[in-house]
Amino acid sequence: MAKIILSIFIILPMTGLSLATDTLGVNSSIGYGETLVSSNLTFELGFFTPRNSSMSYLGIWYKFSPNMVVWVANRNNPLADHDGVLTFNDAGNLVVLNQLNGVVWSSELSRVLRNPFAQLLDTGNFVLWDNFVSSPDEAYLWQSFDYPSDTLLAGMKLTLNLKTGFERRLIAWKSMDDPSPGDYVHELDYSQGLPQYEVVQVHVHRKKSRTGQWNGVQFVGWFNTPSPIIVSVFVYTETEISFMFEVQDRQLVSILRLNYLGVVQLLVVNRSRSATWNALIEFPSDPCDFYGRCGANAICNDSLCECVKGFMPNSLDEWTVLNFSSGCKRTIPLNCSKGDGFWEIENVKLPDQLEVTLYRSMSLDECKDKCLKNCSCTAYAISDIRGRGIGCLMWFGHLIDMRVLEEGNHVQTLYVRQSASKLGIHAYAN
Ligand SMILES: *[C@@H]1O[C@H](CO)[C@@H](O)[C@H](O)[C@H]1NC(C)=O
Ligand SMILES: *[C@@H]1O[C@H](CO)[C@@H](O)[C@H](O)[C@H]1NC(C)=O
Ligand SMILES: *[C@@H]1O[C@H](CO)[C@@H](O)[C@H](O)[C@H]1NC(C)=O
Ligand SMILES: *[C@@H]1O[C@H](CO)[C@@H](O)[C@H](O)[C@H]1NC(C)=O
Ligand SMILES: *[C@@H]1O[C@H](CO)[C@@H](O)[C@H](O)[C@H]1NC(C)=O
Ligand SMILES: *[C@@H]1O[C@H](CO)[C@@H](O)[C@H](O)[C@H]1NC(C)=O
Ligand SMILES: *[C@@H]1O[C@H](CO)[C@@H](O)[C@H](O)[C@H]1NC(C)=O
Ligand SMILES: *[C@@H]1O[C@H](CO)[C@@H](O)[C@H](O)[C@H]1NC(C)=O
Repeated sequence: MAKIILSIFIILPMTGLSLATDTLGVNSSIGYGETLVSSNLTFELGFFTPRNSSMSYLGIWYKFSPNMVVWVANRNNPLADHDGVLTFNDAGNLVVLNQLNGVVWSSELSRVLRNPFAQLLDTGNFVLWDNFVSSPDEAYLWQSFDYPSDTLLAGMKLTLNLKTGFERRLIAWKSMDDPSPGDYVHELDYSQGLPQYEVVQVHVHRKKSRTGQWNGVQFVGWFNTPSPIIVSVFVYTETEISFMFEVQDRQLVSILRLNYLGVVQLLVVNRSRSATWNALIEFPSDPCDFYGRCGANAICNDSLCECVKGFMPNSLDEWTVLNFSSGCKRTIPLNCSKGDGFWEIENVKLPDQLEVTLYRSMSLDECKDKCLKNCSCTAYAISDIRGRGIGCLMWFGHLIDMRVLEEGNHVQTLYVRQSASKLGIHAYAN
């Protein structure tokens, strides 16, 4: 009994210390056990120690669900104990200092701030401005949204600035109890062709999963179950590519997280009921979502693989024991001079853009023509399905990571090059 009373006496003053404010000014600091709380009490910022860990980190979590840490500052540089403070240094930078006043994390601004303020907003964004020269309504000098951890909050954009090259990407935790940067990164792939999102296992440079390309309406195969509660917004302009989502129901809170196993999850909780988060969407969600499961020139359907028409397994032995990784080869080599044709595959997630060329304003007929005339073109598809469809995406080399998708939902058709003799239709090739 005495023990319980003692701990109450210890804990109460600690929570009492919580500044009950959302703002940190220049001569103030917060230490372990003290927190900033956003004005409508949704988010809390302070030091935390993961379960099964002795390290501590500065982070942001939901006040109603403290285990749901959505941002971590000193991921690369944990505090070995509970002795840390968040404060401003002489230049007005936000810093986390350890016991010896060593800097374990900093907002790393290049300019000096005269009267810096940091505020935890109701959106979950922790922002910094200089009260000497601007107000909080103007552009922030630094914001946590620019440096996501593993979590995308509702209303927070995952962006690539095409002018500056600045990108926000999600980097998974190392394990459930270790926020340091783990194996997986969720990022935009915009090296060739059209934007698509990927989860990459960085240390081995291997893709784990990939959404379909942006087809003018959506990323095929990702967020394509229409949901009454989640609205996703994609922006693709000359200056910016971004993705974000909003939650329609005010009782529901939702986040998009890249977990430590490399699975992207849309987690939802009913705030007025409990703090149990459920995964509404997961990616990969079935075996066909795993990148390149079927190897080259094959299509994944219901976890099994089929060679594209005109192709056969590279190794029948492996194929019959359901090891599909070696993929498929042509049954009859192409002979361009004889004239080729195309085989139509409907409702398919288009192959990865390993070697592609994009012509934004070509029609489907022009696209076919262009592909036909170039003997190394292996397939083509309409790149923007809006209206009657426009634009031409042409593939060279192997076709990797295709899957059958449900009809409807803005899925696409791929035209795969075939030798004329295989199609048996000379006229089709013109
Ligand atoms: C912060 O502390 C310094 C040194 O004590 C003092 O000169 C300065 O006026 C203080 N600033 C504010 C905004 O209180
Ligand atoms: C913490 O560690 C214990 C013992 O090693 C283990 O049984 C438990 O699952 C761990 N908890 C978490 C959340 O990882
Ligand atoms: C707090 O503010 C955010 C952002 O404006 C809003 O989305 C959320 O619904 C608010 N939460 C509560 C409990 O009012
Ligand atoms: C959330 O929980 C409340 C209370 O149990 C319930 O009335 C409400 O319908 C739930 N909202 C949703 C969207 O499930
Ligand atoms: C996919 O497999 C199912 C059976 O599992 C079959 O009914 C369907 O026709 C297949 N779809 C395609 C496009 O091959
Ligand atoms: C599948 O076949 C590849 C060779 O193509 C081999 O390296 C791999 O180990 C096989 N996988 C399994 C699970 O047997
Ligand atoms: C391709 O077809 C032409 C015309 O039929 C023939 O002369 C040539 O030998 C063929 N080339 C190959 C590699 O099969
Ligand atoms: C075929 O297309 C590729 C990629 O655009 C290009 O490098 C190559 O020169 C083209 N070949 C011909 C014969 O036009």
